[in-house]
Amino acid sequence: MKLLVVGGGGREHAIANKLLSSEQVETVFCAPGNAGMKKDGIEVLEIDQSDHAALINFAKKENISWTIVGPEIPLFNGIVDDFQAEGLKIFGPSKAATLIEASKEFAKELMVKNKIPTSDYQSFGDYTSASKYIEQGIVPVVIKADGLAAGKGVVVAETKEEALNALKDMMLDQKYGALNARVVIEEYLTGEEFSLMAFVKGDKVYPMVISQDHKRLLEGDKGPNTGGMGAYAPVPHIAESIVKEAVERILVPAAVGMVENGTPFVGILYAGVMATDEGPKTIEFNARFGDPETQVLMNRLESDLAQVITDLLEDNEPELIWKKDGVSLGVVVAAEGYPENYQKSIPLTLPESTESVHLYFAGVKEEAGELVSNGGRIYLVEASGETMKDAQDNIYRALASVDTTGCVYRTDIGNKAL
Ligand code: AMP
Ligand code: GLY
Repeated sequence: MKLLVVGGGGREHAIANKLLSSEQVETVFCAPGNAGMKKDGIEVLEIDQSDHAALINFAKKENISWTIVGPEIPLFNGIVDDFQAEGLKIFGPSKAATLIEASKEFAKELMVKNKIPTSDYQSFGDYTSASKYIEQGIVPVVIKADGLAAGKGVVVAETKEEALNALKDMMLDQKYGALNARVVIEEYLTGEEFSLMAFVKGDKVYPMVISQDHKRLLEGDKGPNTGGMGAYAPVPHIAESIVKEAVERILVPAAVGMVENGTPFVGILYAGVMATDEGPKTIEFNARFGDPETQVLMNRLESDLAQVITDLLEDNEPELIWKKDGVSLGVVVAAEGYPENYQKSIPLTLPESTESVHLYFAGVKEEAGELVSNGGRIYLVEASGETMKDAQDNIYRALASVDTTGCVYRTDIGNKAL
């Protein structure tokens, strides 16, 4: 089989790498991919992830068996509908089904209708009523721009002043664009967060093992939210019973609700879940694999991912076998200044890949034959170990052995699982 992965970050690197490890797979192309992926034998293409016509041409010309999409943008732009209109196989949600991620209001309505546990909320299209609601309500409170804001349109406001400023940014100054001038204001949930993903085909849900992301920039979960600074799996302090409840009360009714809504979901459904005192509650849905969760989960999957996706596309039951022992940990190496202003073209000296340490590249490019940084999150070091301590030692030993000037990384990823 020849396969095509759309996207160019660490998540796509991990997906492509896992696909390439299948005996059935000859070649994995990644569009646009990145220069770092070439080290693993992935064929990177100079095609933009949003150029559907060029991707379709390529898939036809190369006889691609099927395509899988990492990032949300091409999905929101209807890449799945466009491929299918040309008779090409692609694994992911239709444009209509991506609303589960693309519109917070759509997601909330789906949850209410299907009795999926989540925080109480109100949505607002005008600033005056939204600010009145804040003034009369309690803090902390969470304010979310309705549409897509690359993970940045969420403000957890500790004070009313902070909440009003967030409203002003989103609604009056339209910081995330006119389309995001609607907001959802929701109850603040406390508890332990985890990421629960599943392969979904209509009302059929095949859950993955859970993982935990670290969204904040700084140690101890402080500082601004980022695209994710690290992840690990499994998450030993979340009981199996909570995961089971989350599958039954969140993922399954969401999938069934999407079918009943006339927008059946096919692809990876991701629930951000808070384990609260009242049970698991939904924080958000994504219509795709999580980044950086995927970089640690692919290592935990023993089954052949290419076969899993083929089975789903052909309406067969996929077999999902996960490693029972050990842990997988991923630490993101980012450019100093990320997520605000950061330098590019930082020269990189890289840790060696070994049997237990692997690099997944994101913001990198080639300059004079050498890899240099080209984005905020540069690469992720993934390591497995028998225990979390072993995995941490593997990663931090590897990072200490190279010059990371100009880069930052957290040293406490996975500490909760020690
Ligand atoms: P989201 O982009 O919706 O995942 O939100 C980003 C982060 O904000 C989440 O990972 C949570 O840590 C936090 N967050 C979002 N919604 C809530 C909520 N209702 N209560 C507490 N924290 C939240
Ligand atoms: N790790 C969170 C996300 O992919 O949205």
